[in-house]
Amino acid sequence: MTQTLTIHRPDDWHVHLRDGALLQGVAHHTARQFARAIVMPNLNPPMTDCEGVAAYRTRIMAALGEAADFTPLMTLYLTDATDPDEVARGHAAGVFVAAKLYPAHATTGSAHGVTDIRRIYPVLERMAAIGMPLLIHGEVTDAHVDIFDREAVFIERTLTRLIADISDLRVVFEHITTAEAADFVAGAGPNVAATITPQHLHLNRNAMLVGGIRPHAYCLPVAKREHHRLALRKLATSGFARVFLGTDTAPHAQHLKEAACGCAGIFNAPFALESYATVFDEEGALDKFEAFASLNGPAFYRLPVNPQTVTLVREPVTVPDSYDCNGTTIVPFHAGETLNWKWLG
Ligand code: DOR
Ligand code: ZN
Repeated sequence: MTQTLTIHRPDDWHVHLRDGALLQGVAHHTARQFARAIVMPNLNPPMTDCEGVAAYRTRIMAALGEAADFTPLMTLYLTDATDPDEVARGHAAGVFVAAKLYPAHATTGSAHGVTDIRRIYPVLERMAAIGMPLLIHGEVTDAHVDIFDREAVFIERTLTRLIADISDLRVVFEHITTAEAADFVAGAGPNVAATITPQHLHLNRNAMLVGGIRPHAYCLPVAKREHHRLALRKLATSGFARVFLGTDTAPHAQHLKEAACGCAGIFNAPFALESYATVFDEEGALDKFEAFASLNGPAFYRLPVNPQTVTLVREPVTVPDSYDCNGTTIVPFHAGETLNWKWLG
């Protein structure tokens, strides 16, 4: 039985680092385990221009200290009004590496998102021309569509057509949660990839609803039925090249989650690698872990693999019940549980 796992240092291809005091409290959890991370732009106000994104990057580095061995990879928040020239300018200058599509009102911080994807086709065509990835929160927002079906309906109504219309566009279908999405990505061409979170590999919707409402298992897209979770585990651990690690770590204060209208988001940064490694071990696929965590993402984003290595050992670790993140109490994913792999750095 494998007892030690040494892999190239991983990257996290989807994180929420927040801003201000909370940024100071959470960013180091991601920078500890990951060399680089794709940073989401859904702040208040959202990061919709080059200057704003560049200033946010500076705040992240200041929060970590300039000596931190971590590179934030920034993203631009798309709105109906995004200017294709601004996108091309920021990408050429290295301010951001990708742009994020939030359908308006799909999730936290998406009120300024895109109301109809056809409105931003000129932006997407320019992104295709310059090879800049589009990162998609793939859920429809139609009130008539059941929340558990919103991802599958997005594939039918929006994604299939987008990929047919702009076939050169490089797309990351983020935090996929369904068998439909797993099948879609597995069957798509080389320009389409996906990320998978640890929570969607560990939890099905029962985790949220059985024995009481459990707000710390609530995120968007919401966890689905068990057969979807099994399909995600199969894809993640299969060795398929266009699926990679993206935690979607999304910290919210404990009191804002344990509320009558609790926030969506799971803070999984502190034990992210331990959580994923446990899944790969359970699936008998530790030999596929490095590709998922450290190789497939850089290949898709056309970046070098990190030269350093990290080591995990088969040893129990217990996750704290909560963290004090610079004055904000946050309950992490797996709070109080014991995981079977320990990250040594
Ligand atoms: O659960 C989520 N939380 N899903 C998202 O898409 C946004 C995120 C957040 O920013 O809190
Ligand atoms: Zn997210």
